Amino acid sequence: GADRPLAGRRVLVTSGPTHEPIDPVRYIANRSSGRQGHAIAQAAARAGASVTLISGPVAIPDPPGVAVIRVETAREMLEAVEAAMPADIAIFAAAVADWRPEQEAGAKKIKKDGTGPAPLALAENPDILATIARKTVGRPPLVVGFAAETDTVLDHARAKIARKGCDLIVANDVSAAGGVMGGLENTVHLIHRDGAVETWPRLSKDEVARRLVVYLAGMVAG
Ligand code: C5P
Repeated sequence: GADRPLAGRRVLVTSGPTHEPIDPVRYIANRSSGRQGHAIAQAAARAGASVTLISGPVAIPDPPGVAVIRVETAREMLEAVEAAMPADIAIFAAAVADWRPEQEAGAKKIKKDGTGPAPLALAENPDILATIARKTVGRPPLVVGFAAETDTVLDHARAKIARKGCDLIVANDVSAAGGVMGGLENTVHLIHRDGAVETWPRLSKDEVARRLVVYLAGMVAG
């Protein structure tokens, strides 16, 4: 029905930051709160979907009616995403750390030894969105990415669609002045593979989630 446009669909959502351990007590992370991703998972569940939410470490509650899998690192997130497939719609809203400390964190805290800090060598994390979007077997029919940009949002988003192989990018401006990262509101642009762009007014993250779910339901139905 019109109130449950995702009935019978399987939806996978990633949300939150990832934490990349340096040692047992330190990590690299970012300012993502998980609010937008969690709101999308909740809205999809309300729309009738069977939802798996794969979340990095966040301080917000699990959305009701959603199967939540908690992970810490990008590599764990990729593994959990693969395990949660198949899906009809996969939405990658997590702010995955691009890099992790190259050295695997050991059991011991790194100590000051008086010679100054050791350089922190980084290794690139797997791109979860690109890995799933480029699958030749078992690719979800609708793969949605997010783009958090601070400048020339649309140009970057178009390039990102091509690079990652997803169907749609939800782009938002996260420059500090907007207060999007960690905040409650968002202004988004939806950029399609074919270049079509739709811009929504500034809305609460909950409202962005509700509208996005209706929008995606329309894309999978049509
Ligand atoms: O390249 P960038 O990080 O700007 O791309 C953002 C999009 O890619 C988001 O949808 C994010 O969830 C996803 N991503 C990912 N794995 C990464 C990096 C980004 O899934 N390692």
